[in-house]
Amino acid sequence: MDPLRQFKDAQKQGWAHFAPLESLTTPAAARLVKHARVAADQRVLDVACGTGVVAITAARTGARVTGLDFTPPLLERAREHADLAGVAVDFREGDAEHLPFDDEAFDVVLSQFGHIFAPRPDVVVSEMLRVLNPGGTIAFSTWPPDVFVGRTFMLIGRYAPPPPPGVAPPPLWGDPNVVRERLGAAVKDITFDRDRMWVPTLSPAHARANYEKTAGPVTKLVEALSTSDQARLSEFRREFDALVAEYFEDNLVRQDYLLTRATKI
Ligand SMILES: C[S@@+](CC[C@H](N)C(=O)[O-])C[C@H]1O[C@@H](n2cnc3c(N)ncnc32)[C@H](O)[C@@H]1O
Repeated sequence: MDPLRQFKDAQKQGWAHFAPLESLTTPAAARLVKHARVAADQRVLDVACGTGVVAITAARTGARVTGLDFTPPLLERAREHADLAGVAVDFREGDAEHLPFDDEAFDVVLSQFGHIFAPRPDVVVSEMLRVLNPGGTIAFSTWPPDVFVGRTFMLIGRYAPPPPPGVAPPPLWGDPNVVRERLGAAVKDITFDRDRMWVPTLSPAHARANYEKTAGPVTKLVEALSTSDQARLSEFRREFDALVAEYFEDNLVRQDYLLTRATKI
């Protein structure tokens, strides 16, 4: 099988257990929708929407929203959330690198901690810009490489088998210089902001154990090491706990993130 296809299939399996983490991404969703200045009647796309927290928040402003994700159990939950919130959102199964929409179909394209996992940044960004109307807004939330979540991905990268050639580390999307370069001349008025997510937890080991059950890349790595190399798994857990400890105070883990907004030319 094509290595990229295999890589994405493994990612999909990892993300199937993400739903409990929506309690953390729900407040951040409101922050992103505000940052993007979503307004009533705009056509909005939420790329890699997971359980739909951004899509539903946008729909509650009166926007006409579509959410896309490649993990079916998360879409099922997203549909339940939309029903409960009393909003209509068109949730579709699909790949962020092959968006099943016409050129210029949306006024706003959003992604919260989502498009960063598409393996090829140039492909996903050209898709997100292709479906965006000129003058429309692209906005996303991402994890910087030098703070907790970004450093976690870098740690995973040291323990996981190397990805197929051309696959970029997700936290590079959290570096403003990389974002500027990737959006390139296709956009103007790039604006950055930063915010913080607080994760309640009883100890660094509790946080790590929770991420092992819910955060796709951690879940997949732990699953692989459990069968192949218990000693290395223990070493990974020790390193992960030490990393969490740097950001843990008063039973909260501090997770800083970057917000980006730009206008398509
Ligand atoms: C960290 S979760 C974020 C979900 C949601 N945006 C939120 O903020 O709660 C990452 C999401 O990206 C999705 N995803 C990763 N790669 C994808 C791809 N190539 N195409 C579509 N969805 C993808 C996963 O299925 C998962 O729902």
